[in-house]
Amino acid sequence: MGSYLDKILDYIGDKNPMHYKKLKKNAYRNDTQYLERTEAFFKNYEELLTKENKDLPYALDCYLHMCSDMMYEQIRFAETGVYTSTSFDEVNKRVYGNPEVMSYYMHGLLVSEYLWEHHYNVLQFFFNNIAKYTDGVKSILEIGGGHGLFTNEIIKQMSAGYTYTMVDISETSIDMSKAFVKGGNVDYILMDVYQYESDKKFDFLIVGEVLEHLEDPLGLMKKLHSLTADNVTAFLTVPCNSPTIDHIYLFKNPEEIIKLYNDAGWEVVLDLVASSEAKKSDAVDDPLIPVLYGAFLKKKV
Ligand SMILES: C[S@@+](CC[C@H](N)C(=O)[O-])C[C@H]1O[C@@H](n2cnc3c(N)ncnc32)[C@H](O)[C@@H]1O
Repeated sequence: MGSYLDKILDYIGDKNPMHYKKLKKNAYRNDTQYLERTEAFFKNYEELLTKENKDLPYALDCYLHMCSDMMYEQIRFAETGVYTSTSFDEVNKRVYGNPEVMSYYMHGLLVSEYLWEHHYNVLQFFFNNIAKYTDGVKSILEIGGGHGLFTNEIIKQMSAGYTYTMVDISETSIDMSKAFVKGGNVDYILMDVYQYESDKKFDFLIVGEVLEHLEDPLGLMKKLHSLTADNVTAFLTVPCNSPTIDHIYLFKNPEEIIKLYNDAGWEVVLDLVASSEAKKSDAVDDPLIPVLYGAFLKKKV
């Protein structure tokens, strides 16, 4: 019996040979740790899909659907230099509040975390560094958990006696996280993050691929500053030049994101720029090359 990765690539190769060629170039293909993590992830994911009367081909079809949406958005972006949607209301109706779209989108995104080199690059950066920042953490706030992949990884780091709060505007995301997250006693809150208030000052914050979905990311970073303790660590990922069905705020390069963090009272302590074109990791200003920027932040003193 072949590996999950081989089976997945064969499935994708049959349906989309061009995309298969790109995935085959993933530089991690011969990395033992990547192969072990990918096997463990897809084994667990398949079990969860089975519980929901779904299977791996369903998830891979979701992934291919998401890729074809992105291809369309990328062509439009290359022509116009702007994302097709600009308002929150528009994407809230079209994506977050539309279970059919949100479901294939979240499953597709989850699959991409292990298939796309730049997504895995940031995931690995997170895996390699998270333990440095979880000592003594008692209360975690996650915004836009989506599929729950990062939630699971943080929970694995924690010992008893902490609280975990996830705020997400999409019922589909909350349901998917509930199904996917193992243990951790997570308090799921279905709400627009701008409406969320708490007396608690959280000491770990995670916001994965959310700022580009907002009309006012600076306002959110200021709000999160006030919801967190002085010694908080935050982990954020934000894509640049990355057109997709629900991105409305265009970050052109990581410098713009770093400036926004600084303006909101945060500073970067450790970061990684991951380019979607492996050999062009320094081409962070090229509008045709999506880049994912991951960073651990502290509050400025
Ligand atoms: C692209 S997914 C990110 C999933 C995951 N965190 C990751 O890093 O891959 C964005 C998530 O943010 C949520 N979201 C978008 N705008 C939001 C808002 N204003 N308030 C709360 N959640 C929001 C969406 O519902 C979705 O689940």
